[in-house]
Amino acid sequence: MKLFLDSANLDHIKEIHGWGVLAGVTTNPSLIAKEGGDFLQTIHDICELVQGPVSAEVVAQDTAGMIREGKLLAQVHEHVVVKVPLIAAGLAATRALADEGIDVNVTLCFQPTQALLAALAGAAFISPFLGRVDDLALDGMGLIREIRDVYDNDFDLETQVLAASIRHPRHVTEAALAGADVATIPYGVFVKLLNHPQTADGNRQFLADWDTVPDKDIEAQAKAFLAAKG
Ligand code: G3P
Repeated sequence: MKLFLDSANLDHIKEIHGWGVLAGVTTNPSLIAKEGGDFLQTIHDICELVQGPVSAEVVAQDTAGMIREGKLLAQVHEHVVVKVPLIAAGLAATRALADEGIDVNVTLCFQPTQALLAALAGAAFISPFLGRVDDLALDGMGLIREIRDVYDNDFDLETQVLAASIRHPRHVTEAALAGADVATIPYGVFVKLLNHPQTADGNRQFLADWDTVPDKDIEAQAKAFLAAKG
């Protein structure tokens, strides 16, 4: 499963990109508004940094407007994926944009029938909001599993399942086990994927034990060892 960052914060994107694991980024109007910068410049800068799919969402609510906005967004950078909401106008816009070779991420998916419609319209990605499904006391991960099965039962559907609205590391593990192609993860959760107290404790103990050996400089030892070896 690939990992995307669900953020428009360039500092956060730079930090996680530095780990060497980031395959893409998703934004939405709420995340862009939160950062307060220039929308298109932000999207361009993220694309340049990540060199992978970066979702930028249309705000028009009619098909013609979505197509116009989507075509313009796609020209901002070759890595832009146009994000459209899962409404009737969005399906028609997805078909039109996909027919022109523009990748579309269909967002705000809450049931498998919506995911089927998006895939049939030519979506490159479907974004089921599993955290928001959980918020309703329903089974968000069940939604991911069902979409996976629906897509796998039709060999013509190549839409990637992009698990979104992720709230904690367990969501990431379970999305991977459920067969999601991608998880898009907020910064705070991304950091939690890495940190574990026993990793930190173990690392501290190794260093404390190493501190007791007489010659601690591995680089100098290695250079001397390799020189002597010829
Ligand atoms: O990017 C869309 C999605 O991930 C939103 O998540 O936490 O606002 O439900 P959330």
